[in-house]
Parts: sequence; structure tokens; C-alpha cells
Amino acid sequence: MSPPIEIYRDRHHACLMFTDLIEEDGQAVQANQFLIVDHGTGAVLDPGGNLAFNEMYLSISREFSPQRLSYLIASHADPDIIASLDRWLTSTPAKLVISRVWERFVPHFTKVGKTDGRIIGVPDGGGRLPLGESELWLLPAHFMHAEGNFHFYDPVSRILFTGDLGVSMTSGADAARPVTRLQPHLPRMEGFHRRYMVSNKILRLWTRMARQLDISMIVPQHGAPLQGAAIGEFMDWIENLMCGVDLFDDRSYQLPTAVIDGQSLQTRPSLRVVNA
Ligand SMILES: [Fe+2]
Ligand SMILES: [Fe+2]
Repeated sequence: MSPPIEIYRDRHHACLMFTDLIEEDGQAVQANQFLIVDHGTGAVLDPGGNLAFNEMYLSISREFSPQRLSYLIASHADPDIIASLDRWLTSTPAKLVISRVWERFVPHFTKVGKTDGRIIGVPDGGGRLPLGESELWLLPAHFMHAEGNFHFYDPVSRILFTGDLGVSMTSGADAARPVTRLQPHLPRMEGFHRRYMVSNKILRLWTRMARQLDISMIVPQHGAPLQGAAIGEFMDWIENLMCGVDLFDDRSYQLPTAVIDGQSLQTRPSLRVVNA
């Protein structure tokens, strides 16, 4: 495990990125977790599953007392985002900040009663959340990919944390190196965005909003940050991308014929000849 990467630091404010807390044995997708500290008060963004909890908790302890962790902020409710919720709520006084869409679903991640009075449900329009002497902006990012989804903009570092948007499928080591041109990076991004993003309409609406921000870096929850020219190139690419429901038609909704083999764990096409 390497130490966290400082993607921003000044005297009162720091943004740390953890890229390799998960064993790279091919089972779990590489994921990034983030810690933002302002004037000694902290927030964890997308803390991840149980695999990441121990190392992240130790690293935070080197920055400040975990008793001063104010928030766990979750872009959405997937297991790689928030499956460690029970452990964080047990070990710190932090409140969970998450879309109202998921507010009543996340208690399934914890023991009974653990979330009582500790969930801040964010309405669809988002909001500005005070942190230390600064604030974090919770920007609407619904359907990218989750139905209730937020991105996080830090006005001090000017970093935009985009959850599952802008991600690439890489190792933890590659995720630690920011990308400055999009084109060579696209093969690691394209398949994911075509299948996990919901529609081009949403991508265009998002791009129109995001272009109003002064962005130093786009930092996704999987893979490498985008910096420099790659930021504008990403906006241009994503606003023209067809994805999700744009690509599905009646061929995608046929009664299945493939056989799922519980022994080999493989799915194979049916041997039955289907009338053409
Ligand atoms: Fe997700
Ligand atoms: Fe994810």
C-alpha cells in the first residue's frame, strides 16, 4: 500500500486520494477514496467497501483525530461507494450525506439503529455543505449512473470529484498518475461509459452545468484524474457520446436462450438451433 496522494494542499486545506487500498487480485474493481480536510475538520468522499476501511482509517488518523470527521459523503449507494458504512458509523461521529433517493435504502448496510439521526438526505437540486471554514458543493449528477447521484466540487482546490463519470479501468498505480490528453486514455473509458451512463441527454445537461465551473482537475472514483487539456477534451467527448438507453432497442429485450453454467461460472450460447 502506498501513502495517499496529495492532489491539493495548503496551510488549511488538503485533498488526499487513495488509489490502491484494495488488493489487486482481479476480483474487485480498482476504486479511489478521498479525504478532504479544511481547518482540521474532515470529510470522506465515497469511502468504499470494507476492503478499503482499515487502511483509510489509519491514514486519516495521521491527519487528524477520526473523532473530528464530520461527514461521509456518498455520490450514490453502490457497494464500492458505501458498503463500509457500518464500520465508519461505529468508529467516528460522522454523518452520512447522500441523495434522498437512497436515504431509506442505506440502513440495510448497517446494524439496526446505527443510522438513527445520522443521515443527511440531499434533495435533487444539491446544495452547499459547510466544511471547516469552507464548503463543498453537491452538484446534481443524477443518472450518471445512479438515479440519485451527486458530484462534489471543492472551491478551494477547484477539483471536481465525479464519482462514476470520467472513470477508467486501470491499476491502482496507473490511477495515481493524472492524464493530460484524453485520446490515448479513451480505450480505458469508452466501454464503461457506453454501458453505465444512462443517456446522452443527461450527459449534455451535465456538461452545460459543469462548463460554468473553474475546474483544475476532474477526479473520478475509478482510474486516473484528468488534468490540463484532458478536461475540455473530456467535456467535448462526453457531450457527444451515445450510451445506455440510446443504444438499447428491441434486440436487447428478447427471451434468453443462453445457458448459465453454475460449475464453470460461464454463460454459453444455447446449442438449441433457434429458427432464423
Ligand atoms: Fe456506481
Ligand atoms: Fe464506482
